[in-house]
Amino acid sequence: MVQSFSRDLAEYQPQLFHVIEVFVTEPSSTAAVHSFLKVGMIRFLLPICLIFCISTFFWFFGTYHSDPFIKATLSAKGSIDKGNRIFKMNCVGCHGISAQGLVGPDLHSATSRLSDGKIINQVVKGLTPPMPSFEIDSQSMADLLAYMHSIN
Ligand code: HEC
Repeated sequence: MVQSFSRDLAEYQPQLFHVIEVFVTEPSSTAAVHSFLKVGMIRFLLPICLIFCISTFFWFFGTYHSDPFIKATLSAKGSIDKGNRIFKMNCVGCHGISAQGLVGPDLHSATSRLSDGKIINQVVKGLTPPMPSFEIDSQSMADLLAYMHSIN
């Protein structure tokens, strides 16, 4: 048993040494391994980075333009007067009679801080309770936006 093991080892030894030799005495092969790893990493990471960047881009710029309600609202021409009335009926309880802020924030600078798409989402989606979501048609939403731009 012992004998056969040592014979086996003797048979394997040259092979073991050969492997060690390659790694220790040939720097070019280790360099090759390293550069292979580097290229492999880049090939692996680059597509992931690209996918991440592209989806972030679409997430930022695509959401608002692909939403049909937002599209319809932005293409409708709003009336400041009607918007004022809609605001007085629905929003003053929280944002104040002249949008100066009450429970909700002052909305005078809202249109310069927020994009139209964000404001539309704020009104129709109920993203930030306690502000409720409103069921509003796109024309009325356009009126409301026109009013909000007029007080900015
Ligand atoms: C029940 C109270 C309430 C009503 C009604 C309400 N809001 Fe608000 N609104 C809030 C609160 C509270 C916030 C702040 C939410 C937050 O924490 O971001 C807010 C935030 C907003 C914002 C974002 C402001 C900013 O600076 O980020 C806009 C725009 C807005 N409301 C518009 C409206 C409009 C237009 C209406 C009417 C259609 C309306 N709100 C009705 C309570 C209300």
